[in-house]
Amino acid sequence: MTTTVSGTTKVSIEFRHDFADETPATPKMTRVPPGMTLFNAANWIGLPIDSTCGAKGTCGKCKVRILRGHNGATPADRKVFTEAELADGWRLSCRSEAHSDVVCEVPRLMGNPKAALMGFDRHVILNANVHKILLTLTPPTLEDQRSDYSRIRDALSQEGYEAEASLTLLRQLPGILRKSRWQITAVVVGQELVGVEAGDTTGRAYGLAFDIGTTTVVGMLLDLNSGASVAVRSTLNGQAIYGADVISRISYTMLNEDGLSRLNGVIVQTLNRLIADLLHEGQVAAHEVYEVVTAGNATMQHLFLGADPEAIGLEPFIPVVEDMVQVRAREVGLAILPQAQVHLLPYLGAYVGADLVAGLLATGLAQNEGVRLLVDVGTNGEIILGSAARTVATAAPAGPAFEGAQIQDGMRASDGAIEAVIITHDAIELQVIGGGSPIGLCGSGLLDAVAQLRLSGLMLPSGRFVQAEEAGQFVAPELARRIITDDEGRRAFVLAWAEESGGGKSIVLTQRDVRELQFAKGSIAGGIDVVMQELGVEADDLVEVYLAGSFGSYINPQSARIIGLVPPVPVERIKAVGNAAGEGAKIALLSFREREVARSLPEIVEYHELSGRGDFNDSFLSVLQFPELETLG
Ligand code: FES
Repeated sequence: MTTTVSGTTKVSIEFRHDFADETPATPKMTRVPPGMTLFNAANWIGLPIDSTCGAKGTCGKCKVRILRGHNGATPADRKVFTEAELADGWRLSCRSEAHSDVVCEVPRLMGNPKAALMGFDRHVILNANVHKILLTLTPPTLEDQRSDYSRIRDALSQEGYEAEASLTLLRQLPGILRKSRWQITAVVVGQELVGVEAGDTTGRAYGLAFDIGTTTVVGMLLDLNSGASVAVRSTLNGQAIYGADVISRISYTMLNEDGLSRLNGVIVQTLNRLIADLLHEGQVAAHEVYEVVTAGNATMQHLFLGADPEAIGLEPFIPVVEDMVQVRAREVGLAILPQAQVHLLPYLGAYVGADLVAGLLATGLAQNEGVRLLVDVGTNGEIILGSAARTVATAAPAGPAFEGAQIQDGMRASDGAIEAVIITHDAIELQVIGGGSPIGLCGSGLLDAVAQLRLSGLMLPSGRFVQAEEAGQFVAPELARRIITDDEGRRAFVLAWAEESGGGKSIVLTQRDVRELQFAKGSIAGGIDVVMQELGVEADDLVEVYLAGSFGSYINPQSARIIGLVPPVPVERIKAVGNAAGEGAKIALLSFREREVARSLPEIVEYHELSGRGDFNDSFLSVLQFPELETLG
């Protein structure tokens, strides 16, 4: 039955298969937006269908038999199946789109698909889009005057591959074929012959996955044959000197004539430096890297492409492109095989970027049963809520408080920053990055400090500090005297006295700092409230809450809950998912099936813009206060 869930019409697909571990195998069901191919719908629920062409309709391996539902034959079907087979319902699943409900049968796979646990408990079928095929060609004779290219294409076709070569590769063919005495390894990526190598090099195939963050860039070099990680490196994004956040980077491109090309050049340089380090560490040659997947927010991906991000920064916030983009390494200046394919994961909205799409792959949030919440906490809070039934996303502008900016003694998370705070009845314990004396307070320390002050009773739900005299009635005097009042009656809490600090002056948390944090958390919590209302779910319905992003990973889940940044779920359900974007990029590199899932996500996940929404303002105001402690359970 075709179902409509809050405005989203979906069709149901039932896959009958006989290669699962269960006997008899239970049919697998899924509901997807109309127009999704049966191949991708199967990937969506982790059901492997055979393929060597990366779902391009050329290998003829992804056969299914339609038992119920209308699916006309495509030209690709007619190439593969006889009339009798077509009449019997046989179709190529990668060409067959579901526009109404379908029941189909999936044949047993030849061999067991290689799978690995990746991301966050995701069982991922490893199936890179790069194939290396050893070919022993018959040398040309007067009787066999086929061209070099035809000779390779014929041999590839016998192995089940259809691939086209670029001019660059054609220029190299005569030399390689003759030097190798006609024994070569063809490198096929999707439908493209990207390389021809002398001899047998099938054992060496590599790819790169990047998380291009506004502050930090993480690169991973992966062995595409085994799925193993060969080397991982991270470095600061060289663009940081042109502005700390995406808005200042966009402004830089607007205010400087060569701003866009400069920022583009800097990020390419950053990536190439990482690539050089990764290749050196892994003892891999640049020409052995055949594919790259990148994740990053929309602005970072635009700057990497050299595409103007100006319209992202202004209402109505329009990116140049939102779909998955595929370019060649040489077009974007990456120092690997020039013909290597570079895939930029798609976005869900101008402010819910490919890093969150990668996060969805890493967590499986949109593919699993049970409602989950994914929050990337930062200057821009990115929020995704849902399950396989329905998933919604939004972005909430949180401002720079979580980065330690606009906080009196705030600083970035670097050496000397207080990153964690514990307040007991009579003492305060500080955890400082680098282990020395504190010189300031970073975002996670700010969050911890406020949460601990709430727990100790030294701060009211309104965010106000209690008076020192009042505090003296329920905490030890050495703690109470940390609440100080300036000449104008403004209170603050001393985290470190001047003699304890590395900067020679006391490190304090002011009333204004607390307000800044309240606005930042109010914005994100307000955005979460809007999407929870949209889906009609309560905190109790949430199976898990994932905190992602470079900041999210360092937040103490309990503190996030105490200040009301996330809904009041049991703390064990709140998980820091580290570099979910990097994990997702890695999954998309190692599994073209998962990359196809990522390609579909913008169609499946509903994006809700918060700007100008009255209910967001209401939600924001309702969550500005800190929760009463008894409501936290
Ligand atoms: S024809 Fe190759 S996956 Fe469909």
